[in-house]
Amino acid sequence: MKFKPFSLFLLLVAGMVAAQTTPSSAAGSRTDGNKTAASSTLISLPPYLQNLTEAGVVVRWQTNRPVYSWVEFGTSPDTSAMQKVHRLKNGMAVANNLDHRMELSDLKPATTYYYRVCSREITLYQPYKKEFGVTEKSEVFAFQTVDPNQKSFSFIVFNDLHNGRALFDSLRQQLGNRPYDFVIFNGDCLTDLASAEAALPVIAHYNQGIEAASYPPVYIRGNHEIRGAYSQQVTDHFDWPGDKAFFAFTHGKTRFVILDCGEDKPDTTAVYYGLNDFSAFRQEQADWLQKEIRSDEFKKADFRVLVHHIPTYGLKRSLCLDLWKPALETAGFDLAINAHTHRHEVLLPEKTGFPYPVAIGGSSKWDDATVMHLTKTPEKIDIALLGGKNITPKTVTIPKKKR
Ligand SMILES: [Fe+2]
Ligand SMILES: [Fe+2]
Repeated sequence: MKFKPFSLFLLLVAGMVAAQTTPSSAAGSRTDGNKTAASSTLISLPPYLQNLTEAGVVVRWQTNRPVYSWVEFGTSPDTSAMQKVHRLKNGMAVANNLDHRMELSDLKPATTYYYRVCSREITLYQPYKKEFGVTEKSEVFAFQTVDPNQKSFSFIVFNDLHNGRALFDSLRQQLGNRPYDFVIFNGDCLTDLASAEAALPVIAHYNQGIEAASYPPVYIRGNHEIRGAYSQQVTDHFDWPGDKAFFAFTHGKTRFVILDCGEDKPDTTAVYYGLNDFSAFRQEQADWLQKEIRSDEFKKADFRVLVHHIPTYGLKRSLCLDLWKPALETAGFDLAINAHTHRHEVLLPEKTGFPYPVAIGGSSKWDDATVMHLTKTPEKIDIALLGGKNITPKTVTIPKKKR
């Protein structure tokens, strides 16, 4: 990987933190006036990157007690040369909280930055009196801002892990030392979650396995992220461009368009109790998609990759296809990456008549589970399919579409 000296180190540090703590946003109690006792490690969900671009990145982490937080960063790993950024809201430093989100902006493209997250425990928070406990600083991590001229890169796609941490570990092992710039979790990776206590250890585990402090995870919602009491909050842990579950971003002259089909049954299905309106949400995406495919970013891209959990093509019944078809059939996508069916297949247009190749990830069971490692060059995308007992590793080449 790009930051080889950090790789082993990061794994060790993340492993130590994960072993010592139980990530939970509910673990601490807020101090409005009463002192709280200081105890173990503050950082409960180690730092991870979100929304990495040419000019900025968001750093997220959690503590198990209320704190004041900041990030120290710079182009040198020397912490004495780093600048400090904290988050202000209406004139106040955001503090006395557990969930931390810092934006690093005005960064230079294609540049390696180093950073560490810092949290200072607040033990007393009164109008005219504040007291502080321990200060905890993470190790120094590195990341590279997006290079607008990068022509080749790699990325990884996991899907349908269904909270399976052991499954994730096995698939991660299959990847070995293959390089990657970012990792997509294409839905149903966080399943039917009841609480923060259920969700955050799973996120922490996935983050640790991919070194998310250096390589950003892109968490996409599947139908199972929509179920369970914590479905109302789980997406708060992710920073999506535009703050919606559908969005687009450019990496290495490739335009990634992320869509969200919502639930897998009609809104009127009894088990939804009238609380869903994915019909309107899908229509909103159909309208947005028309704008996206006319955008300069989309038109100028070498490759156009569509990613969403529930397939539109390759599924007998689709709640999205009729709405999205006009855009999907004219946009000139080179590839769609889907999930949900738990049956791995790559469907090529010459056999299917679909407007683009469709690569669907495998199951939540080790026998038929897959992970995709994709390498984009100016001429093609190679999809290396790796997986469990019944999966024969293979590489499928998707050539760039003639436009
Ligand atoms: Fe699934
Ligand atoms: Fe699914």
